[in-house]
Amino acid sequence: MKLPSQVTLVEVGPRDGLQNEKVPIATDTKVELCRRLLAAGVERLEAAAFVSPKWVPQMADGAQVLAGLRQTAEGQAPKVAYSALVPNIKGMEAAIEAGVDEVVVFTAASEAFTQKNINCSIEESIERFAPVAQLAMQHHIHLRGSISCALGCPYQGPVATQAAAEVALRLQSIGVQEFDVADTIGVGTAEQVKRVFEAVGYAVGLNRVAGHFHDTYGQALTNIYAALQLGVATFHSSVAGLGGCPYAKGATGNVATEDVVYLLEGLGIHTGLNMALLVQTGAWVSEALGKPYQSRAGRAQWLKTQVN
Ligand code: HMG
Ligand code: MG
Repeated sequence: MKLPSQVTLVEVGPRDGLQNEKVPIATDTKVELCRRLLAAGVERLEAAAFVSPKWVPQMADGAQVLAGLRQTAEGQAPKVAYSALVPNIKGMEAAIEAGVDEVVVFTAASEAFTQKNINCSIEESIERFAPVAQLAMQHHIHLRGSISCALGCPYQGPVATQAAAEVALRLQSIGVQEFDVADTIGVGTAEQVKRVFEAVGYAVGLNRVAGHFHDTYGQALTNIYAALQLGVATFHSSVAGLGGCPYAKGATGNVATEDVVYLLEGLGIHTGLNMALLVQTGAWVSEALGKPYQSRAGRAQWLKTQVN
C-alpha cells in the first residue's frame, strides 16, 4: 500500500513522558514544556491525566497545567487540541472543568494489566467508561480509547492477536471515536504489528486507529513503518523519548518525537513539526529532568549545534 502523505503526531510527552518521574516536577516546568512543543508545531497535545493522585502523584496538577496553557495560548492560533487521560466519571468531570478538547479512556487487551493499572477487569472498565462517553458526547469532546498491552503484557506475557480488536469493538459500542493501540512495554515486532493492527482496522476502521509505541526493545520505528504500510496515519510520540508507565515495570519511554519526525521526513511525509525546535525542546527537557538526551536523531542534531 502507498504510504500516507501526511501523518499526525499526538505529542504525549507532558503526560506519558512525565507521569513516571519520581521527583515532583514543577507545574511551571510542565507548562513550559507544553509551550515549547506548541511552538514546534504540535497540534494535538496530551497535557494531563485526571487520575487518582494516590496512584500517580506526578499528574496531580493537571488542572493547573491546562489553566497555565490556556493563558499562554491566548492570542495563538486556536487549532491545538488538548487531551487528558480519564479513568472514570470523577476524572471526566475534572477534565471538562479544565476545558480539554479530547479525553482518553484507557483499558487494555490484557486482564492482568487492567487490574494492575486501573484496579478492575476489562469489562468493568467499559462499564465505567459508558457514562464518561455520554458526557463526552454532551460536551462535544472527542473521545479516544487507549488499549494497552496490545502486543504483550508484563504480567500475562503473550497477548492474542484478536484481543485488541475485541476491546476496540467494546469501546466502539459505547461511543469511542479513535482507538489508540499501545505497545506498553515495547515488545512487539513488525509482523505482529501488521497482524494486530489489521485486526483492529478490520473491526473499527484503520482511519480511526493510532499507534502508541514504547521503545523498550528498540522496535518502535520499525513498528511505526509497519503500521504506516497498512495506512495508519496517526502515531503517538514523546519528545526526547521520555516516559514509561508506573504500572508496567521495566517499560521505558515512548518512541521519541524527533526520531519519528526524522523517519517521516525521510519518507517525504508531512508532519507540520519543526525539527530544530523539537531538538531544542528535547535537549532542554532532558536537562531540566537531569537525564541524558535519549532521542538518537535529536541528540545527533543537538551535538552538531554545540560544535560551532
Ligand atoms: P481505586 O483505588 O480502585 O478507586 O482506583 P477508588 O474509586 O476507590 O478511588 C481511590 C481514591 O482515588 C479515592 O480517594 C478517590 O476519590 C480518588 P479517597 O477517597 O481514598 O481520598 N479518585 C480520584 N481522584 C482524582 N481523580 C480521579 C479519581 N478517581 C478516584 N479520576 C483508579 C481506580 C482508576 C482511580 C486508579 O486505579 C487510577 O487512578 N489509575 C490510573 C493509573 C494510571 O494513571 N496509569 C498510567 C496511565 S495509563 C498508561 O500510561 C498507558 C498508556 O500510555 C498506553 C500504553 O502505553 O499502554 C495510555
Ligand atoms: Mg504509554
